[in-house]
Amino acid sequence: MIDYSPLKYRVESMTTQDIDQVMEIEHEAFSAPWSARAYDYELHYNEMAHYYVARPQNGDDASAAASIVTPSSWWQRLLRRDRNVTPPSMAALPSVVGYGGFWLMVDEAHISTIAAHRDLRRRGIGELLLAAMIDRAAEIGANMVTLEARVSNLGAQSLYRKYGFQVTGRRKSYYSDNGEDALIMSTPNITTADFQRQMQELKVKLYARLSR
Ligand SMILES: CC(C)(COP(=O)(O)OP(=O)(O)OC[C@H]1O[C@@H](n2cnc3c(N)ncnc32)[C@H](O)[C@@H]1OP(=O)(O)O)[C@@H](O)C(=O)NCCC(=O)NCCS
Repeated sequence: MIDYSPLKYRVESMTTQDIDQVMEIEHEAFSAPWSARAYDYELHYNEMAHYYVARPQNGDDASAAASIVTPSSWWQRLLRRDRNVTPPSMAALPSVVGYGGFWLMVDEAHISTIAAHRDLRRRGIGELLLAAMIDRAAEIGANMVTLEARVSNLGAQSLYRKYGFQVTGRRKSYYSDNGEDALIMSTPNITTADFQRQMQELKVKLYARLSR
């Protein structure tokens, strides 16, 4: 169990209330976004599904998150007649800065999605989510973690490589929006002492980077 209290962000299970904010990130992050209904299905009907969100905690990055103007918030503020109803910064504060999910299929975890808010990328949020999901997958019985990544998505591939994923296959024309191939990337056995030691080293660095 990770102690998130010293960190700028914490990872928690996704709830129905998070879906609206997840969708705002989803539409920006993916060229073929899932629908809110798909997330609702994952949360309530897919027994294999495990979904998480990253939330800002008090500190610099919570202020940064508060300054993000969501697509609707600027005009809502402009049109709001009674400006005393809600302080604008509170109205704009996103409680979700990233999210990810996986399906546990017997002893294999398949990461179905991962994304960080566009304005908060390269701050360790994606890495925190990935590390939390690998940890959680190991806790509930996974021996390995696998996922698909677009051939062109070099940033995501770099994140996965950092955590021991290697290319184990390729799906031709996997993405229907542009016919792009997917790389299948998989970890070695995540329960081995060697993998856990490498995870521990990465997490020590990550937590130092994310400490408030
Ligand atoms: C992929 C994604 C989740 C990474 O999240 P992030 O919070 O920006 O990434 P982090 O700051 O945690 O990066 C951790 C490490 O991943 C690698 N990485 C992440 N983004 C990278 C980029 N654009 N270019 C190169 N390396 C990158 C780096 O090794 C980085 O470590 P460093 O910052 O010490 O160099 C984010 O870019 C995103 O939401 N992309 C859109 C959605 C998406 O493509 N999801 C993946 C689908 S397969």
